[in-house]
Amino acid sequence: DTVDWDPEDAGKGSYDHYMLKEIHNQPTSLANTVEGRIEDDGVSLTELDTFDGVTDVQFVACGTSYHAALYGARLLNAAGVRARAFRASEYGTADPITDETLVVAVTQSGETADTLGALERAEAEGARTVAVTNVQGSTVSREADETLLVRAGPEIGVAATKTFSSQVAALCLLGHRIGEDVTGDLPWDDPTTFFESLRSLPENVREVLDGDRAHELADRYLGSEAFFFIGRGLGYSVAVEGALKFKEITYEHAEGFASGELKHGPLALVTPQTPVFAVFTGTDDQKTLTNAKEAQTRGAPIVAVAPEGHPAVDAADAHLPIPDTDPALAGLLANVQLQLVSYHTANLLGRSIDKPRNLAKSVTVE
Ligand code: G6P
Repeated sequence: DTVDWDPEDAGKGSYDHYMLKEIHNQPTSLANTVEGRIEDDGVSLTELDTFDGVTDVQFVACGTSYHAALYGARLLNAAGVRARAFRASEYGTADPITDETLVVAVTQSGETADTLGALERAEAEGARTVAVTNVQGSTVSREADETLLVRAGPEIGVAATKTFSSQVAALCLLGHRIGEDVTGDLPWDDPTTFFESLRSLPENVREVLDGDRAHELADRYLGSEAFFFIGRGLGYSVAVEGALKFKEITYEHAEGFASGELKHGPLALVTPQTPVFAVFTGTDDQKTLTNAKEAQTRGAPIVAVAPEGHPAVDAADAHLPIPDTDPALAGLLANVQLQLVSYHTANLLGRSIDKPRNLAKSVTVE
């Protein structure tokens, strides 16, 4: 399985930063991820053997890839498959592994030491292993039994953007295959709607990018004490990824919370100086809206990341729209809005966007 990388990818082109270029590349990178892998309303991943006989799935990953893994585990749960995502650095003493366990290592670089360490444990204990990576021939793909390439193309910015969205898309395809092979159920309520939405994904991402309203919001909330991100279900993975991206490149205090946990502690941090970005992806949105309003009552401005016409839009102080799509993909579109908010905030603050202080693209020590 190979992918031709555009030689022009070597430069920033007309963009001020690689990160912005990579955010804008997502319609193309996402199209590459799914290219040739969907047929009618089915998935064709010929590089992977059948998952028949697998009893449970454990994802191991770090940083942004861990957030993609959270997303992937939820999708498998929706197909009735036992699945959990682990932070690779915490995996050493985590759940027991059997020879029917499938361990999926998600790592864009394929070189992250913590993830390779987790993979080593999985293999030593007899698990079947699959690498989900962006780099062909990387260590992870050499070590794992099988590899699913995410085909996002090279990513130069330290903060992962297009590799995250392509990992999520690749995990959707993998989730479909595993569901089909293991339980016979799929992660989607309605496969026809899901595949229609998957085909429209590049166009929907373009719509988000063309309507970029994040700049104005970044300006409005500049100088806030902290930035909070909340969501539920798949929206939770997007909330924690939104907060990670924000802290990585703006150096401002940002946290992602499960919407329902806000009232169990984090609400004490909420003031009129802490905007709350609430991600609505169709999982118990009414509850997330109630949670967001609890923060609003304490004076926090609420930004709803939601489709036009969603009940949260009227209640919120600001709105970042996402096109209508299948609930499994709404989080991916919401994440693009949050990438833009982080980018514009960091840009207004004059941060070193492509090479944030203290961070490395690939961390090869444990
Ligand atoms: C570093 C990068 C993060 C990345 C993480 C995992 O910390 O700065 O952006 O998410 O490594 O990288 P991987 O290559 O394993 O996905």
